[in-house]
Amino acid sequence: MRRLLARALSALQRTSARALCLVLGSVALSLVLAACVVGPPQTMPREPGDAQRVRAALSASFVARGQAGLDRLEQDLAQRLCSEAEAAGKPLSDDRVQAIERENQALIRWPAAGTPLLGDWRSGERIAQSGVGRQWSDAPDVPAGGNCYACHQLSPDEFSYGTLGPSLLRYAVLRAQMPRTELERYTYGRIYNPQAWLACSNMPRFGSHGILTQDQIRDLVALLLAPDSPINR
Ligand code: HEC
Repeated sequence: MRRLLARALSALQRTSARALCLVLGSVALSLVLAACVVGPPQTMPREPGDAQRVRAALSASFVARGQAGLDRLEQDLAQRLCSEAEAAGKPLSDDRVQAIERENQALIRWPAAGTPLLGDWRSGERIAQSGVGRQWSDAPDVPAGGNCYACHQLSPDEFSYGTLGPSLLRYAVLRAQMPRTELERYTYGRIYNPQAWLACSNMPRFGSHGILTQDQIRDLVALLLAPDSPINR
């Protein structure tokens, strides 16, 4: 009798546990659905001191090691203005955007007259694949790679790539209507200093920040533009 009672009791517990799970489950589901219907707030409410708290949290999360110093957390004026504009949900004024782009145009160093802007796409592909350089564990004099695959799709054969930037597959094919010299100059300059075309670009300034050399950038231009490179084949 005692055993029967115990079994009945545990069956009851199991059913009520299951019922509780069901109730909790549907409450959770309706909360999720409600959140989807209402949608997330457009911007987080900001409070005085938020910027300092974010800065403090960032510097507490990183340790300066080797060549990777905490100065990398410092934004320049344009980056700060872009971040503030995004947080406030108010785009920068046209004048400000043009001023930032003009300043960055002036930082581009073009190859000497007569040097073709297209280098060797095979070398460009190696540079695009390589994430070496600029990390605390890298020797400072090791030539850096571009790590382009971290943010872009560049070859149909590579299935591991980031999507922070747009796919660059068929880059030249899709821009066939653009005058060729203009396309070459845009591509070189866009890699050398993306802020020269897009004030609040999220892409690293490979040339202006001394990450890649002019010749490495010419090899990447070839990767993007040569008809027989994996991008355009
Ligand atoms: C941290 C991410 C990131 C890395 C790394 C990166 N890019 Fe980008 N790239 C972007 C983003 C984001 C855009 C689009 C808008 C922007 O600039 O913010 C972009 C845009 C571009 C464009 C312009 C495309 C167009 O339609 O006009 C080119 C060309 C380009 N990237 C080439 C490269 C190359 C070559 C490399 C490697 C040397 C590289 N990117 C590395 C994020 C990145």
